[in-house]
Amino acid sequence: MSQKSRGIYNLLSETFFYSFVQKVMSATSFREKIVKKYIKKIDAKVLDIGCGPAEILSNFPKIKYYGYDINPIYINSAKKKFTNRGKFFCKKFTKNEIKHLPKFDHILLLGVLHHLGDEEINDLIKNLKKILKKTGNIITLDNIFISNQNLIAKFLIEMDKGENVRSKKGYLNILKNHFKQVNSKIYHQKFIPYTWFVTNCVK
Ligand SMILES: C[S@@+](CC[C@H](N)C(=O)[O-])C[C@H]1O[C@@H](n2cnc3c(N)ncnc32)[C@H](O)[C@@H]1O
Repeated sequence: MSQKSRGIYNLLSETFFYSFVQKVMSATSFREKIVKKYIKKIDAKVLDIGCGPAEILSNFPKIKYYGYDINPIYINSAKKKFTNRGKFFCKKFTKNEIKHLPKFDHILLLGVLHHLGDEEINDLIKNLKKILKKTGNIITLDNIFISNQNLIAKFLIEMDKGENVRSKKGYLNILKNHFKQVNSKIYHQKFIPYTWFVTNCVK
């Protein structure tokens, strides 16, 4: 994964700053809304790839949670805040991880795809499908470029650290190769203006 690395972006690695920006941008509440829509079973087994500080756990006290992130600052913060409420791994999720993991009801890729190139996504999804229950789903949530986009939304998305923000077609072209069914929706956030793309992928 290649990332822009200018000063302001490095700041975003700090958990406090990251969480603050996410709240101001209404990303935290949007993520909550989406995840609540899909996770209905109180003790569901959930794998969160690119979990960041795992804030999503605040809303689901009883789920069986496994979070992976390559950023030690986020993982340390998650371990400190949520202690034994989840299993947290500071590593890239690769094929090797599969053998240590159970099958999951839900796999979350929240804010991850727009950081990855097409081939990285293909590899990741192939591996994730092996540990997804037959009845399970993969939920993705990313920013998106659309035509006639609100100019503030477009500007903010252009400033994102991720270098692979795509159009609807761009995201779906990759995901549709892997799943029987991909339901997707574009959300237009009014304040602060932003455009989100959510998919629910079923094997
Ligand atoms: C935009 S953040 C999203 C964090 C969190 N999911 C959220 O919604 O707040 C993307 C995260 O993905 C992590 N990440 C990117 N590629 C990864 C990989 N291959 N394995 C694990 N984590 C990864 C980054 O370190 C970063 O914390």
